[in-house]
Amino acid sequence: MTTFWSWYVTILSLGTIFALTWLIFGTRKGQRQETTEETVGHSFDGIEEYDNPLPKWWFMLFVATIVFALGYLALYPGLGNWKGLLPGYDYLDSENKTPFAAGVQVAGGEVRHAGWTGVHQWEKEMLRADEQYGPLFAKYAAMPIEEVAQDPQALKMGGRLFASNCSVCHGSDAKGSYGFPNLTDNEWRWGGEPETIKTTILKGRQGAMPAQGPAIGEDGVRNVAAYVLTQLGGRELPEGVEADIEAGQKVFAGTCFACHGADGKGTPAMGAPNLTNPAAFIYGSSYAQLQQSIRYGRHGNMPAQEEFLGNDKVHLLAAYVYSLSHKTQEQ
Ligand code: HEC
Ligand code: HEC
Repeated sequence: MTTFWSWYVTILSLGTIFALTWLIFGTRKGQRQETTEETVGHSFDGIEEYDNPLPKWWFMLFVATIVFALGYLALYPGLGNWKGLLPGYDYLDSENKTPFAAGVQVAGGEVRHAGWTGVHQWEKEMLRADEQYGPLFAKYAAMPIEEVAQDPQALKMGGRLFASNCSVCHGSDAKGSYGFPNLTDNEWRWGGEPETIKTTILKGRQGAMPAQGPAIGEDGVRNVAAYVLTQLGGRELPEGVEADIEAGQKVFAGTCFACHGADGKGTPAMGAPNLTNPAAFIYGSSYAQLQQSIRYGRHGNMPAQEEFLGNDKVHLLAAYVYSLSHKTQEQ
């Protein structure tokens, strides 16, 4: 903040507080001290007002808010460039225990300043949490994922990580929803090996099904959708729909097989899903929805977590996700 705006904010804030203080004390002066039956004289719709002083407790509440405001502004950053009296964090990283100094440069070239901020507080709490739980995460990170997936404590931790980082998209029961895959059904778009699941979470995944409409035309879309629905998915065409399933099969063998495989069972290496299990389709399995997927293409995006969560937490998450479709006896 430039000096001008800093002063602007400071003068405006303090000025308002002092003006209010003056107002409260000023108006209290001329008031009578005792309660009375007299009214101030006006009447609104027959409602009159006693000429009583402001109750003391009420007056004290006003005073308390002013004291609170001044205390708050002294402790926390609020007045222009004033940093507040509360300290920032004590050290920058738990490993080197670098002492914190005002204007110090941290990794990434960013300059940090002393004093309390929400970011400082958050970083401090993260450091504390890392110190407390880091060794536990590291212990599990050194174990194979299948083994971690048998450990009740690890699964509890993984479940919490899932709830706070993944459930927004995959659902709190991990069963997914429109556009987001079910992670409990052991049907995988990108592969269900423990290490593959971990790679999916670490690096993210971009599903890319190009729009087929322009290449195969409207008839092609209708026919191949009918083929997928009936021959691969084992379902019935909706009543009254006519489509040339044989022609659809030709389109499939000429175009779709390249990604979804000749048998339609999918290619995990490119995230092309198995088309023989309509229950696992994420964009819907009705005849209309299939045509939509085929005509316009689909582009699901699973965001990479490596940068946010780091290897050890992702390891735990991979074990948790793996466990969802590989229940052990006692679970
Ligand atoms: C270049 C590779 C590629 C080609 C060619 C391709 N697909 Fe796909 N298809 C994908 C990928 C990848 C996805 C997953 C997209 C996503 O997850 O967002 C997908 C998704 C789908 C879905 C949606 C499945 C769901 O979960 O809802 C359907 C249906 C589908 N393809 C049918 C077809 C048909 C029919 C053809 C041929 C006309 C075809 N695809 C051609 C790669 C391809
Ligand atoms: C912003 C939404 C979003 C968030 C958050 C998210 N995912 Fe995903 N995830 C997706 C989408 C979309 C896909 C499907 C990508 C595709 O089309 O192939 C996916 C795919 C996956 C897959 C692959 C499933 C398969 O069938 O191969 C796994 C495993 C997975 N997510 C786990 C997680 C975990 C664990 C987290 C939490 C750290 C997480 N996801 C957070 C959207 C999300």
